[in-house]
Amino acid sequence: MTSQAHVLLIGCGAMGGALLRGWNKTGYYSVTVIDPLAEKALRSLNEIDPSYQPNIIVFAVKPQVMAEVVPAYRCFLPLNPLFVSIAAGTSIQTIQQLLTGTPRIIRAMPNLPATVGEGMTGLVSSTILPDQQRQLMENLFCSVGKTIWIQEESLMDVVTAVSGSGPAYFFYLVECLTKSGMELGLSEEEATQLARQTLIGAAEILKQSTESAEEWRRKVTSPGGTTAAALQAFEDQEFLKIVWTAAKAAVVRAKELSQG
Ligand SMILES: NC(=O)c1ccc[n+]([C@@H]2O[C@H](COP(=O)([O-])OP(=O)(O)OC[C@H]3O[C@@H](n4cnc5c(N)ncnc54)[C@H](OP(=O)(O)O)[C@@H]3O)[C@@H](O)[C@H]2O)c1
Repeated sequence: MTSQAHVLLIGCGAMGGALLRGWNKTGYYSVTVIDPLAEKALRSLNEIDPSYQPNIIVFAVKPQVMAEVVPAYRCFLPLNPLFVSIAAGTSIQTIQQLLTGTPRIIRAMPNLPATVGEGMTGLVSSTILPDQQRQLMENLFCSVGKTIWIQEESLMDVVTAVSGSGPAYFFYLVECLTKSGMELGLSEEEATQLARQTLIGAAEILKQSTESAEEWRRKVTSPGGTTAAALQAFEDQEFLKIVWTAAKAAVVRAKELSQG
């Protein structure tokens, strides 16, 4: 990027704040923040310099307040900025109706690890974006992790089910492994440390290598060994089906929430 992009961030809570920290680290963005309470933020749109010309406007407010917040930003429509929303379950069509006209809208679904720079963001656009703008969007979210473009907006519910809600599944697995270790005789402190660091270590291995999770699983599972015995028990209990059912439940819930 040759010149700084002017980003207007609306809402600087948990996720907006994480994005802001990522952007500030890159030095690529000149960011103006609007938030009623956040530090170094304008309190409302009324405080903005009338000559201000954002290239990108990011809505990072709760989905429940989108209908109330978005229409005020119609004033920027003549500048044709890229409007980005991270509000879960708020469709491009809804945002389009709130803004009116035919603005370029990008829906993004980051996840909690964005707060530590290891986020996974699914992106979908209302229009086919020229390469430069596509890159601009990727760079914006790459500052807090990795990005992936999704072809169909309806699949954003699946993104929500896999990466959006995903961190909690792994936390739950650590919880279950800790409890199992305790049931089998370890102290809580011992079991917690063992389970926690094991997830961190496994994640780091995936991070540092190009091999798939399946390849690593095969590599570390000696025939007839302890890991094989444990994995067989997972299979006997149809672990894949359990995970599939959980992801499906998240998709169904995401659809319900998006319908209000
Ligand atoms: N957190 C996540 O892991 C995650 C993941 C993916 C997507 N998201 C999406 O990200 C969005 C924000 O979530 P969050 O967890 O960051 O929520 P949050 O912590 O509540 O942040 C929202 C921020 O917006 C501010 N705000 C409220 N009304 C505003 C207005 N009119 N103008 C400007 N700012 C306003 C809030 O201020 P007050 O608190 O003073 O009202 C708050 O600081 C949601 O739509 C959510 O679906 C979050």
